[in-house]
Amino acid sequence: MADALAGRYERIQRQLTELFAGYARGLDATARMASIVALLHHKMPHFSWTGFYRWTGEDLVVGPYQGPLACAVLARGRGVCLRCVESGRAVVVDDVHAFEGHIACDARSRSEVVVPVRHEGRLVAVLDVDATRPAAFTSTDAEGLEAIAALVHG
Ligand code: SME
Repeated sequence: MADALAGRYERIQRQLTELFAGYARGLDATARMASIVALLHHKMPHFSWTGFYRWTGEDLVVGPYQGPLACAVLARGRGVCLRCVESGRAVVVDDVHAFEGHIACDARSRSEVVVPVRHEGRLVAVLDVDATRPAAFTSTDAEGLEAIAALVHG
């Protein structure tokens, strides 16, 4: 199971790498983010919301995404995305209802994974994915998404 999932992330990563090195060479970060979320969201059936939030140093502001309309600016001082910013590490939440401070942009969301996006060593954004079933994500998702998030500024 985990191997099959890892293989899917590897294929998506390869496809994006080829895209960004090929005809889409020279894309800026926003265009890369848009391409990444489009591909992930449509290839991964368990993703109900897939998108980026940019870290301004004070706020998390929504970037390119796919799925239902989301919070444009996340409430300060709480949330899964902020946990990722503060820790600098991937965060996997099996049950968002049990995560104190979780920000519910979509009431149907039940589990979530957030990974950092870095540029020149600094965390500049996060890649956030929601699912409508509990415990939809594992470390395989976090690792696959981190490798793909590295392509934004790669
Ligand atoms: N749940 C996130 C907010 C973003 S939405 O999931 C799209 C959080 O707690 O930071």
